[in-house]
Amino acid sequence: MTAQNRDAIAPHGGVLIDRIAEGAQRADLAARAPSLPAIQLNIREALDLEMIGIGAFSPLTGFMTRADYRATVDGGRLAGGLPWTVPITLSLKADSPKVAAGQEVALCAPASLGGAILGVISVEDVYDVDKAHECKQVFRTEDAAHPGAAYVHKEMGDLYVGGAVWLTERLAPPFPAFHAEPKVTRARFRDAGWRKIAAFQTRNPIHRAHEYLTKVALEVCDGILIHPLVGYTKEDDIPAAVRMQCYSALLESYYPKDRTILTALPAAMRYAGPREAILHATVRKNYGCTHFIVGRDHAGVGNYYGTYDAQKIFDDYTPEEIGITPLMFEHSFWCKKCEGMASSKSCPHDAASRVALSGTKVRDMLKAGEEPPPEFSRPEVARILIAAMRAG
Ligand code: ADX
Repeated sequence: MTAQNRDAIAPHGGVLIDRIAEGAQRADLAARAPSLPAIQLNIREALDLEMIGIGAFSPLTGFMTRADYRATVDGGRLAGGLPWTVPITLSLKADSPKVAAGQEVALCAPASLGGAILGVISVEDVYDVDKAHECKQVFRTEDAAHPGAAYVHKEMGDLYVGGAVWLTERLAPPFPAFHAEPKVTRARFRDAGWRKIAAFQTRNPIHRAHEYLTKVALEVCDGILIHPLVGYTKEDDIPAAVRMQCYSALLESYYPKDRTILTALPAAMRYAGPREAILHATVRKNYGCTHFIVGRDHAGVGNYYGTYDAQKIFDDYTPEEIGITPLMFEHSFWCKKCEGMASSKSCPHDAASRVALSGTKVRDMLKAGEEPPPEFSRPEVARILIAAMRAG
């Protein structure tokens, strides 16, 4: 194999998992599934199933068994020792049938996503969990106001079901033009001849600070994957459809087309801060990226995490076992004296010189139809956000 047709990085655990049933296997499963007992998935479980199927969660081949769940929750690793920080779980709901090890069970999309049978799980175990303990470990809080903890308490049942899955149907991609599974992004990186690929996770519009991080990454990498998470975010986050418009407008005018790829990540946000930073990095490794941007309060919410906790957690693992290289950034801002984007690592001026706006302030400005200063947000992005807020 030449350097050109070799992937720049191996998937987590070494093999890109593919659990999409095809051909005779798919026909057989699809024929049998309607007569199997069925579990209706919540949105997070349905998105997790998709992520498992396409290999984005490699090496997982299904929902976690008790051994992997416990090792993940308590030690930040799978039972076999590979780093893994966020439980990927399926639960029995009040209206679910009784299921037992050895059974095959159909998995149905939530009603809001059409309700179709998406696949089948071969049940390995059914186990009860201490959700408060899970939340404390994963989110560092049991607070019901934390959106990730609230999801676990409200939407997950008390019994979890572990086992390998096969997908027979796919969820419709939310943004077909930006749909690219790990095998596809890997092929695109190979075709482009990129050996160093940075990934940028985001659940927000790209403001100047985000743009700065991605541009610095572009300076040291061959290309960048702008990879917004679009599957499930909390109600008050900006809707993915509006964000996709913002990303497209920004890329059109400010990014080199031959070094930038924009595709959507159909995953669910957990708001698990540090632990989610490791998950986000691992997932991007599976998509073929060699570097991963981690800035301030990555995947954070409220005041649950320290500003740089999501960077510090990388010290709990060796670089070899994580595989993908974190590109860590301090809080970035526009400095009026430097006349450019900077951080406290590169700018000697005081706080008064910095263009600093809180999220609430920006939201109020946009709601009032007022563009934030161009040093905070590009006008192209601000205009899309203002129009979206006007439209309700
Ligand atoms: S996140 O939940 O996806 O982390 P967001 O889209 O706001 O939220 O952030 C995307 C990435 O940019 C994260 O790595 C985050 O740490 C980083 N980031 C956001 N704003 C800043 C900033 N002002 N300075 C440095 N890093 C930032």
